[in-house]
Amino acid sequence: MRIKVTLIVFLGLGIVLSSFRPETESNIKFSSNDFSLISTNTFASDTTKLDKETGLVVDENLYMVKAQCTGCHSTKLISANHFTRDGWKQKIRWMQANHNLWDLGETEKQVLDYLEKNYAPQQMVSRRAPLKDIKWYDLKLK
Ligand code: HEC
Repeated sequence: MRIKVTLIVFLGLGIVLSSFRPETESNIKFSSNDFSLISTNTFASDTTKLDKETGLVVDENLYMVKAQCTGCHSTKLISANHFTRDGWKQKIRWMQANHNLWDLGETEKQVLDYLEKNYAPQQMVSRRAPLKDIKWYDLKLK
């Protein structure tokens, strides 16, 4: 009898106390600059460095992309997309036709080099490549 009562009291206390527990999970805040934690480029390999400021892949032509492509919208519009060189060119033409994007002139090559290299369409790698040169053998069951 004693033990039962003690148990119930402890259980009750436990439930009451647990409802006062501070919400630890919702207290975790991510800085919006911390692209190294939340990367929209899910395909980036471990060795790909992302620029702190823009979340874009670090590369010798990044400065030009920063200069030409960050004035109007978030760089997430860039990092969330993967196009061929031609596809990127079409996006640029589309922005030039509809959204007052200026003529990139000489710098367009650098911008396209960068985009083609770092934001090309990527294959989903969901399984290993098929095996080659397999040597089959008879499985002898006794
Ligand atoms: C003059 C302003 C301006 C500049 C500079 C600019 N863009 Fe844009 N861009 C836009 C607008 C406006 C949109 C449409 C945004 C929306 O849909 O919310 C857009 C959309 C996009 C999109 C999404 C397209 C889609 O199909 O949804 C991509 C990708 C993009 N821009 C890439 C770039 C790149 C790369 C550069 C640098 C060459 C660049 N932008 C520079 C104005 C600009």
